[in-house]
Amino acid sequence: MRNAFISGVGGHVPPRVVTNDDLVADYGVETSDEWIQKRTGIQSRRFAEAGVGNADLALPAAQKAIAQAGIKAADLDMIVYATLSPDHCFPGSGVLLAEKLGLCEGAGASFTPAMDIRNQCSGFVYGLGTASSMVKSGACEHVLVVGSEVHSAALDLSGRGRTVSSLFGDGAGAAVVSATDEDRGIQYWKCGADGRYAHVLAQKIWDISKRPFIPQDGDGNGIVAPEMMFANMDGRTVFRHAVERMCFAVISACTASGITGDDVDLYLFHQANMRINQYVAKQLGVPEHKLIHNIDRYGNTTAATIPLLMAEAVETGRLKPGMTVACVAFGSGFTWGSALVRW
Ligand code: UT7
Repeated sequence: MRNAFISGVGGHVPPRVVTNDDLVADYGVETSDEWIQKRTGIQSRRFAEAGVGNADLALPAAQKAIAQAGIKAADLDMIVYATLSPDHCFPGSGVLLAEKLGLCEGAGASFTPAMDIRNQCSGFVYGLGTASSMVKSGACEHVLVVGSEVHSAALDLSGRGRTVSSLFGDGAGAAVVSATDEDRGIQYWKCGADGRYAHVLAQKIWDISKRPFIPQDGDGNGIVAPEMMFANMDGRTVFRHAVERMCFAVISACTASGITGDDVDLYLFHQANMRINQYVAKQLGVPEHKLIHNIDRYGNTTAATIPLLMAEAVETGRLKPGMTVACVAFGSGFTWGSALVRW
């Protein structure tokens, strides 16, 4: 039977470490190390320098994943690129990455198709599911799934924006999903969405129903008010739904696959808040040794949290062939997703 397995993973974070104290001292955010650590578990995050775009950050992660898969970039049949902070409104960052990977020039140009997924924190799981289906159907041999975010450029670092700006960091992760006849790989995936809560966590920037879509001054310059320019979030509502949906998504994945939580060797939870993950772990009875985190060091890197966890777990030997891995994510939309992977 044709299966889809993860043949390579890679992660990349920008070098600049920004601690909670740095947010206060360097950016003037009205917060404290104590508040952020107590409410979220975040100690620091990475910020990319000005001039570094989303696909720039994704490139090293993608190259590492491709090398670990033992293939060349030109062997990819598709790029699926998950982000909520794309380089531009359009075109998507997937085509920018394809160009950076050298897929669009020279005799061996493959002109590999690239598509962006706009599903925020659950974007990587949506991408993994898409890649798995493309490979299992026989349409593709190798699909690169990317989760990459440059949040630092779009954070409201004033007192008004502290609830959001304290949480997010920059980073990128990637995985190559490849075909195999072995009994391993992505055994199950399922995603969900509830648009009734679309307004609860959103960065609207413009309103396409308005004429023009961004208000203009007399000289034709666009005017974007801060509440439109930056993300807005009702944190408590997101928190409550995240715990419920993530628990249900893991239970559904195990039930549908005929296994129990005890059969899972490693849980890769989306990294939005350490407290969310502690609640989920408690509800599901997941012991601490089956969890790994990076929120303490990277903050919430949205689409990049899970592939970054994967890359680190492989590098440190926590994730080994034969292990059963449960991935689960929840975020803006609301959207969520889970996947069970036999590594
Ligand atoms: O990736 C998926 C998307 N995001 C999430 O999953 C986030 C889910 N939500 C959360 O993680 C939490 O709700 C937050 C960490 C965002 C907020 O924690 P909370 O315990 O729910 O705090 P809160 O929003 O109820 O605010 C409590 C107080 C408020 O002050 P008052 O009104 O009680 O005086 C806030 O203004 O904390 C204040 N506050 C802060 N104080 C210092 C909010 N943000 C900060 C801050 N520093 N950064």
